[in-house]
Amino acid sequence: MKENFKNEGIYTGFAQGYDLVMRDVDFEEWALHILRLRDRHGFKGNRILNLACGTGVMEPTWLSKGLEVVGIDQSEEMVEEARRKNSMYPTLDFRVGDMRDFDLEDRFEMITCLYDSLNYLTEPGDVQRLFECVKSHLSREGVFVFDVATETNILENFTSTTYAENLKEFAYIWENGYNIKTKICQSDFAFFHRDPKTGKFERRTETHYQRMYTTRNLTQWLRKQGLRSVATYDGVTLEPAHSGSDRIHFVVGHDT
Ligand SMILES: C[S@@+](CC[C@H](N)C(=O)[O-])C[C@H]1O[C@@H](n2cnc3c(N)ncnc32)[C@H](O)[C@@H]1O
Repeated sequence: MKENFKNEGIYTGFAQGYDLVMRDVDFEEWALHILRLRDRHGFKGNRILNLACGTGVMEPTWLSKGLEVVGIDQSEEMVEEARRKNSMYPTLDFRVGDMRDFDLEDRFEMITCLYDSLNYLTEPGDVQRLFECVKSHLSREGVFVFDVATETNILENFTSTTYAENLKEFAYIWENGYNIKTKICQSDFAFFHRDPKTGKFERRTETHYQRMYTTRNLTQWLRKQGLRSVATYDGVTLEPAHSGSDRIHFVVGHDT
């Protein structure tokens, strides 16, 4: 029987705590790295469509470099947080949308999908739908940059591991397991938010599924949609990706 790894109701209770949980990630450096990849491969362009933009952690950096940014994310709560947090930048445009199925009737010189967001597509058909949407929204000379978490990363950090933190207004427990056969990493989260009025903690739970994909499959599916992987990079570096990479960035252009 086929198992059901549907991501439903995710990034709801997480939205208000996301930036706290990720506070050690250098998003500014990561955003600059994406521009470095664009420049290194001779792509140009100042309009970015950021798929699965989350709380809009990279957008201020791109804006400071003179770029125009549209972000879309399927979680209303994440988009709400992105808008609230970036309200001082009225030109940033955050919208609710599904990266597997959108039509903005526009083309962008750069499209991004970052921080494991592609891994959230648990069916190969969904990844291909994403690539199809990217193909139709990418300008002729445009570049698509995305990253994936690899199986190496999951085996090292997310196999039967639990992370937890007890912060003042917010606490979480994050339990992980990986099934090497299905290539699915399951993360069970419990979030505890303090209600400022009552001082009591409210508990909310979410189960996230992420699938690990091989470079070979992703490259084939890109090609099937008329896109071409120009290069793959190890983590947030300019070194080529290798079998031990725990994150791989793909730099992609039109094939035909
Ligand atoms: C790990 S977060 C990354 C957010 C952001 N890119 C960052 O760098 O912080 C994954 C994001 O993917 C979004 N997501 C998952 N599936 C999606 C889909 N089908 N369409 C759009 N967004 C999706 C989630 O809502 C969440 O905001």
